[in-house]
Amino acid sequence: MNRKKIMILLSMAIFICTTVTAQDFKYIGASKCKMCHNKADKGAQYKAWLDGPHAKAMESLKGDEAKDPKCLKCHSTAAAVDAGLIATLTAAEGVSCESCHGPGSMYKKKTIMLSQEKSLANGLILPDEKVCKTCHNEESPNYKGFNFKEYSAKIAHPNPAK
Ligand code: HEC
Ligand code: HEC
Ligand code: HEC
Ligand code: HEC
Repeated sequence: MNRKKIMILLSMAIFICTTVTAQDFKYIGASKCKMCHNKADKGAQYKAWLDGPHAKAMESLKGDEAKDPKCLKCHSTAAAVDAGLIATLTAAEGVSCESCHGPGSMYKKKTIMLSQEKSLANGLILPDEKVCKTCHNEESPNYKGFNFKEYSAKIAHPNPAK
């Protein structure tokens, strides 16, 4: 076999491996993050989310809108992702942690979470502007524009201990 063929086979193998692992990352829901991310001295991220706009996103949909896939795709993490990838996430959560941070079934372990490198390798996302714009865009009937700096400040939930 020549080098080119080996390279093609190798990249195919890597592609197959990454798709298989990606399918193992399942959505577990905000209550699973709460047990570790709701301490006041570390930023109480769960409470910040619960009091913010994203946890309330389903409350904005009235009547049949709450069943309309055209609205749910941005207002509900559970409705937006493939049903086969849902472990314990519920529709009522609205826009949950994992819409921004990626499905948590593999990175939620403390031994993994303590290492940023391992967390990222197990599905964690530290979201940038592009992630926000999957929903904050002109397809939204109530689009008010999007300024990443201003909007990030409104939903910020930093860990003051870091
Ligand atoms: C068993 C406890 C535990 C669970 C469950 C858990 N985490 Fe973590 N997480 C940690 C620890 C410990 C850290 C490292 C210290 C820190 O940054 O707060 C961390 C760090 C993080 C960070 C910061 C990563 C970085 O390097 O900046 C994010 C984001 C995060 N977790 C999101 C989540 C989300 C979303 C969930 C639920 C899907 C979750 N975590 C579930 C314990 C946990
Ligand atoms: C999965 C879709 C989705 C993603 C991803 C997303 N958002 Fe949102 N966001 C929404 C929805 C839906 C609302 C409206 C909630 C409601 O009031 O019903 C919203 C509302 C907001 C609001 C309140 C706006 C207002 O008018 O008061 C802020 C601020 C915000 N998002 C910031 C962000 C930032 C920053 C990011 C990226 C880090 C982000 N969002 C990612 C769906 C999303
Ligand atoms: C492309 C993503 C997206 C879709 C599709 C979408 N929304 Fe939204 N929706 C948002 C975002 C993001 C916000 C926050 C407003 C902002 O800051 O731009 C929002 C806000 C809202 C609000 C609050 C209005 C306000 O003034 O803050 C209502 C009500 C709403 N959407 C209803 C709906 C309905 C009904 C549908 C389906 C017909 C729908 N949305 C489809 C993303 C979306
Ligand atoms: C709308 C998007 C969005 C949602 C929803 C969201 N986060 Fe975040 N989160 C962010 C952004 C943006 C950052 C900052 C990332 C960075 O610093 O690079 C962040 C940072 C964090 C950090 C790191 C804080 C630090 O200073 O080390 C933790 C922990 C975290 N989020 C946990 C959660 C948990 C738990 C939930 C749900 C209860 C959640 N987040 C929901 C966007 C989101």
